Amino acid sequence: MITDFAKKLESVINFIPPIPAVIIELLKALDDENANMNTIGRIIAKDPPMSMNVLKVANSAFYRLANTVSTVDHAVKMLGVKEISMICVSCGAYQALRPPRDAGTFDLKEFWKHSVATGVIARALCQELSIGDRQTIYFGGLLHDVGKVVLDRFAHEVYKIVIQITHEECVPMIEAEKKIIGESHDMIGGLIMEKWKFPFTLADIARFHHNVSASSDEARPSVAVCALADELARIQFFGFGGNKGGVILEDTEAFRILAGIAPEISSIDMFKFVQDLETLGEEIAEMEKILVG
Ligand SMILES: [Fe+2]
Ligand SMILES: [Fe+2]
Repeated sequence: MITDFAKKLESVINFIPPIPAVIIELLKALDDENANMNTIGRIIAKDPPMSMNVLKVANSAFYRLANTVSTVDHAVKMLGVKEISMICVSCGAYQALRPPRDAGTFDLKEFWKHSVATGVIARALCQELSIGDRQTIYFGGLLHDVGKVVLDRFAHEVYKIVIQITHEECVPMIEAEKKIIGESHDMIGGLIMEKWKFPFTLADIARFHHNVSASSDEARPSVAVCALADELARIQFFGFGGNKGGVILEDTEAFRILAGIAPEISSIDMFKFVQDLETLGEEIAEMEKILVG
């Protein structure tokens, strides 16, 4: 059964649902220098559930806007074209992969917690170290493990064994995935993003967050920030990242790469840094409602 699944991997990739048309339009608009706030607002307004998501995120803890945002145009004006587009891209990706109501899934709540924590920690590191683009890094963190959702959706019974081995044998998830399935979530995540024609930095974050040095030169600093945030989220018990013990941050590939770019990282108390992130808890709760709801 397991070998069969490995053989079927290509068909799994082919079976991945298309990304909603509105996301394709948004990604094109993001690349278009002539696209402005009105263009983006018009594209989003065509999709009512997406408009709702934009308003929920715009009114969430992180932005702390003085007044309630009640229209998409207002949200675009307050948060900017790129931020709004990335919100839509992330929500659209997870919605395209949403399981049917009665389908068995892994613990999605833990998964969101881990993903949002990784995004929030990555964004804070990006600001602290002045590395990469804030929005790309936040949404890259939010989407870095998207391959796990795909593997679970298409082979829930097999993926249950992967998760069991991860916990019982205390091995990293990608090792258990390779052992049982023959492929791992990072590779699958990269393939999905390529299939959906997402910005290449997002695709590199998904594909290389467990093998940072293999990423492209251009994306490597952003990949390293997300990879370190991933470790921090796991160590701080923001669920569903595989085994938690035994990681020495300074020995990770991500940390070494970042220390080469921003040596001041060595003087930061990373655990205190994460504990001091004021909006982390609220953001996790709010994004979970948006992504699940
Ligand atoms: Fe991962
Ligand atoms: Fe992760």
